[in-house]
Amino acid sequence: MTTEITFENVGAPNVSYYTPIQDPPPGTPLSLVKHKTTQSNGEITKEFPPLFTPLKLRSIILPNRIAVSPMCTYSAQDGMLSDWHLVHLGQFALRGVGLIFVEATAVTAQGRISPSDSGLWKDEQIAPLKRIVDFVHSQGVKIGIQLAHAGRKASTGAPFIISKGQLCPEEYGGWPDDVVGPSPIPWNENHASPKELTVEQIHEIEEAYVTAAKRAEKAGFDIVELHFAHGYLAHEFFSPISNKRTDQYGGSFENRVRYGLETAKKVREVWPKDKPLFARISATDWVDNGEGNSWEIKQSVRLSELLKDLGVDLIDVSSGGNTPEQKIHPMAGYQVSFSEEIKKNANINTGTVGLIRDPKLANNIVSSGHADLIFLARGLLADGNWAIKAAEELGVLIRTPKQYHYAIERFLIKDAE
Ligand SMILES: Cc1cc2nc3c(=O)[nH]c(=O)nc-3n(C[C@H](O)[C@H](O)[C@H](O)COP(=O)(O)O)c2cc1C
Repeated sequence: MTTEITFENVGAPNVSYYTPIQDPPPGTPLSLVKHKTTQSNGEITKEFPPLFTPLKLRSIILPNRIAVSPMCTYSAQDGMLSDWHLVHLGQFALRGVGLIFVEATAVTAQGRISPSDSGLWKDEQIAPLKRIVDFVHSQGVKIGIQLAHAGRKASTGAPFIISKGQLCPEEYGGWPDDVVGPSPIPWNENHASPKELTVEQIHEIEEAYVTAAKRAEKAGFDIVELHFAHGYLAHEFFSPISNKRTDQYGGSFENRVRYGLETAKKVREVWPKDKPLFARISATDWVDNGEGNSWEIKQSVRLSELLKDLGVDLIDVSSGGNTPEQKIHPMAGYQVSFSEEIKKNANINTGTVGLIRDPKLANNIVSSGHADLIFLARGLLADGNWAIKAAEELGVLIRTPKQYHYAIERFLIKDAE
């Protein structure tokens, strides 16, 4: 009897060019190489290390727990992404991560950090994003977008052109006289003097989030993340350091979180029910000026509970960025304890981020239940292969794109048992 052979080669759907369908997607754990775990009864068993186990959020299944953290690249023109972004973000789709995030994308032109930020404030900005989404999807990988408004930290220059936070004047595309915030308090003397937002303007920004989320859906994104961290607009409202309002958006905790909650509620209403919504928050201002005078972890836990009730699926826990007074001593995994606290007390999925380079640390964070997802920023800029190498170190063979996999499988499992 002859075995039938087939040359059938199925291409990925929804792209105009041929690229083989990736099934399973890159980043999927396939087999154990060396990894062994000992059960409590002393028996040796073999399980995938938690960093390389799937995570299901609504209808989305991530093949592992490694996410490309949102990273501004200050390379857009009029908010539009280019071939550069396609290659920059596309590279990660070939390299075994479980999820990719597009950088902070402004919901209004005025809400950009710099004139070169990504944007979704007009329909023309959908197509270049969709091109990236389509490519990443053609590789079987999930992709999210972070929607942002920079508030009083808007209209600065790109940090590789001028030192971080310097106000960008009009002749270089800035809008120094049109920067807004909850209160007319500049971040520092190099930043703009923000105009206090009226209630009507606050609602307009909330609506801009809604419209941007609808555009993100048209572009095909799997996840939207609300950027509520790093001293940008939502965080400015949350923190008593930057919010001195006396109306319904300032004063009490309930009032300070109102803008963020309204935004989350409105976005959740239009963002498809089967797709996850994330929020990135700064867990603390890192300012010790007496209880209740700054934004602190306790308030972050309360906020996370409220966001969960509104249908937010994961809190991406970062910290700081709201004041030059902050005192931070960053070290490996220095924000993990905040994620742990939020996960435990608000009973919600969390992501952690910050100086995570060691795969064993990343794996321990997931295995100890301190976070569900590990966001990496600089680690992936420095080494786009981080996930493949992490898998190797932890004794797992993960899937890489078909075109690579058949060639490098033996190479990667040289120590196979
Ligand atoms: C180049 C660069 C750009 C960044 N842009 C963003 C951004 O757009 N949105 C955001 O929430 N955080 C941004 N961050 C912060 C990172 O997402 C991450 O939280 C931080 O770098 C700590 O993680 P790491 O130690 O793995 O780099 C940026 C960081 C870097 C290095």
